[in-house]
Amino acid sequence: MTTPPQISFTEIELDAIAAAKGRVAIFVEGEGKLGLAARRVNRLTKGALGRFVASEAFSKMKQGDAKTLGYPVGFAADAVDVVKLNRRATVPDARKAGAALARLQGGDDCLVMAGNNTRCSEIAFGFAMRAYGFDAHKTGDKTTPGAVTFAVAKPEEVAAQSAPLAAVVEGVFFTRDLVNEPANVLTTDDFAARLAAMHELGLEVEILEEADLAKLGMRTLLAVGEGSESPSKVVVMTWNGGGDEAPLALVGKGVVFDTGGISIKPAGGMEDMTMDMGGAGVVSGVMRTLALRKAKANVVGLVGLVENMPDGRAQRPGDVVRSMKGDTVEVINTDAEGRLVLCDVMWYAQERFNPSGMIDLATLTGAVIIGLGHENAGVFSNNDALCNAFLKAAEAEGEGAWRLPLSPGYDEQLKSRIADVKNVGGRPAGSITAAKFLQRFVKEECPWIHLDIAGVASLTKESTLAPKGATGWGVMALDRMIRDKFEG
Ligand code: BES
Ligand code: MN
Ligand code: ZN
Repeated sequence: MTTPPQISFTEIELDAIAAAKGRVAIFVEGEGKLGLAARRVNRLTKGALGRFVASEAFSKMKQGDAKTLGYPVGFAADAVDVVKLNRRATVPDARKAGAALARLQGGDDCLVMAGNNTRCSEIAFGFAMRAYGFDAHKTGDKTTPGAVTFAVAKPEEVAAQSAPLAAVVEGVFFTRDLVNEPANVLTTDDFAARLAAMHELGLEVEILEEADLAKLGMRTLLAVGEGSESPSKVVVMTWNGGGDEAPLALVGKGVVFDTGGISIKPAGGMEDMTMDMGGAGVVSGVMRTLALRKAKANVVGLVGLVENMPDGRAQRPGDVVRSMKGDTVEVINTDAEGRLVLCDVMWYAQERFNPSGMIDLATLTGAVIIGLGHENAGVFSNNDALCNAFLKAAEAEGEGAWRLPLSPGYDEQLKSRIADVKNVGGRPAGSITAAKFLQRFVKEECPWIHLDIAGVASLTKESTLAPKGATGWGVMALDRMIRDKFEG
């Protein structure tokens, strides 16, 4: 697994500024007032910092932006990174500042003079989040990451605040690795093995194999995997950190590769379908975070791991398959496979755990990208209280999320001539009809959220907290929601 940078927190030692190797970072408030460390830098550079802070370039910088003074006189370091950030910064600005420093770091050692900034742990969190890189398949010289030291006014206090945030970083990195991994490496077997290894963290991990799934009647899930050499699986991860209350259930779509099946996708862009297990990736990352920070909540994570391939044994368009719930599904399009996987796992989650709420995550539809682009995930819910709690958490974490409707009228589009329901509802409102399909498999009394993350799970551009590729979208929001709503 890609390991997050180990950030240490130490006392402020002004003489370390001139002596430090690698890079030194300082923070300057918006109005340009210099703090203790900045004054020392100004003195060492014979006023160069003061000139920079008085410049138009500095005034044009936004909160959290960084500019580098290269090879400054008076320093052993190669660079001084000057970050514009108020002492009482907002959380997003503090994270952005940390991320800006991580982008500049390369393999260098880094001394961050964070001083008495009130958001030191959030700066460190942003740093760690952006320090991600997926180089598992790059040969040649790997840059060994440099040591990152934050000099702060109250090291113990900041270290304590950072511990749960470091658990979030670990969860996000775990998710990103899963999502970035190609499908010849991350097979259903490999995915399940990575989850089984989380047993070490105190999670209970149970792997249901094809024979178990057949016995349970998960026929729509099994039908999706029939064309693949990789065995379909459902992995159940249980974290019992609460009392004896019913758990929250998280359910993830884990299609390790989606060719479309017999309704095969066009070649262009098909390689992106290595990320079609993104929902399962987020569920796994959240479970990792909960275990690492020993969350005081009961949460069960279930992922349906399958591969959607065309083959002599693959399911065909027109097939009718009976779900675990008992509803029959006419498979019009084998490329609408995610809902076939989820409906069985969601039904199983409710039957077995009688959860107090259920949240499913899936890279479910291309249509959600048409509707919301890459800024927001599609949110669907049958319960305003749970939904609003999630939206609030997502907003606080800066993870875009936008609610879409589930009005009954959309059910018309899913009517089948020969079965109870079709697996596609035509072009109009493709994300909503997908959600409506799932809703058939949610018991009326079960508060439920469906998150369509097709547009946000992996990006072709870097974002504030992530390089290009997998983002880990949702780990932060779900962890926060669990903390705020389910942990006393
Ligand atoms: N995995 C895809 C959805 C997807 C598209 C995810 C783009 C990420 C990026 C899903 O299984 C799919 O193929 N959906 C079809 C549904 C259609 C056949 C009703 C789609 O969106 O085209
Ligand atoms: Mn598909
Ligand atoms: Zn898919």
